[in-house]
Amino acid sequence: MKRLLPLLPSSSGESPALSPEDKYVPIRLDSVQNNTELDFDLYLENSKNGRKRLYRSRDLVFQDKHRERLLENNVSVLFISRDDVDKYYAYVESHLGTLVSNPDVVPKEKASILYETSIHRIHQILEDPERPENIDRSLVLVDHTIYFLINEERALESLLETMSFDYSTYTHSMNVCALSVLLAQRHGIDDQETLKVLGIGGLLHDVGKSKINPDVLFKKGPLNNDEWKLIKEHPAIGYDLLKAHELIPKRSLSPVRHHHERSDGSGYPDGLPEESIDILASIVRVSDIFDAITTNRCYKKAAPAFEALNIMKDEMKSKRDKEIFQDFIMLLGPKRSKEMLLSH
Ligand SMILES: [Fe+2]
Ligand SMILES: [Fe+2]
Repeated sequence: MKRLLPLLPSSSGESPALSPEDKYVPIRLDSVQNNTELDFDLYLENSKNGRKRLYRSRDLVFQDKHRERLLENNVSVLFISRDDVDKYYAYVESHLGTLVSNPDVVPKEKASILYETSIHRIHQILEDPERPENIDRSLVLVDHTIYFLINEERALESLLETMSFDYSTYTHSMNVCALSVLLAQRHGIDDQETLKVLGIGGLLHDVGKSKINPDVLFKKGPLNNDEWKLIKEHPAIGYDLLKAHELIPKRSLSPVRHHHERSDGSGYPDGLPEESIDILASIVRVSDIFDAITTNRCYKKAAPAFEALNIMKDEMKSKRDKEIFQDFIMLLGPKRSKEMLLSH
């Protein structure tokens, strides 16, 4: 099943997938937990004419018998009113712990719900990065994502199937968060606290883009010098936005500020030499480059994974970069990646 709940329209210039006329939006049955009270109405779709009818009113407890009956009737998708989208996500966020540890839900479904919920939260963050509640909630999301990545055997496959390869800052943020955590594990970092610090940094690494003029950020043609200068400010802007936030671990700010630094000191914003770049920033950098190359952008089509790896190979010059890159190839699958690299 594809990504269900589309993004809300945004003022950032990124295209919304949900048209304002859609009065109802689909949700997954698995995102509704047994014995919980919902504060949104549930609707069912008439398969013949597509009309929605009220199935359960808000404030009623959803129970196993309801799920069973729906499944008996082959219903795995329900609908909610568009007006209830924020309430729905608040509900899903507060029950993510139950979802990710539920053995009856298949990994692909967990990955999809995590992904959709994270994207909604990132959307809120980028709309209003100064609002502490948005950041607080994103930290909880990272916790659940890491639990899923660590405990689910098919986490990577499920996520790769779920990830959107149409670029938006929202999907990109979540892709980079998940890829960075998996890459760090490959690289031998398995301390959960460090993975969490990294996941937060990965999720928020481009938060500074919320303050960049969308006309420049989404420009289709080549950028002039002044526009490049503006774009290059996003890591420092992101750092400034987040540094005063009490709950963000200080080390999570390294990937935010330094994910565009390069080992030879030619990166931005600080032009740091490799020994001064936190390894967590280097890990986010590799995931960031990969995701940027392999997703469709307004000005270019996505490159296939093998081409991305070839482009990256030229970027990864220092010993540290090469080691991380090697682990990235292993992460994607040594056999597949090797074939990709050798054949080109
Ligand atoms: Fe960036
Ligand atoms: Fe990025």
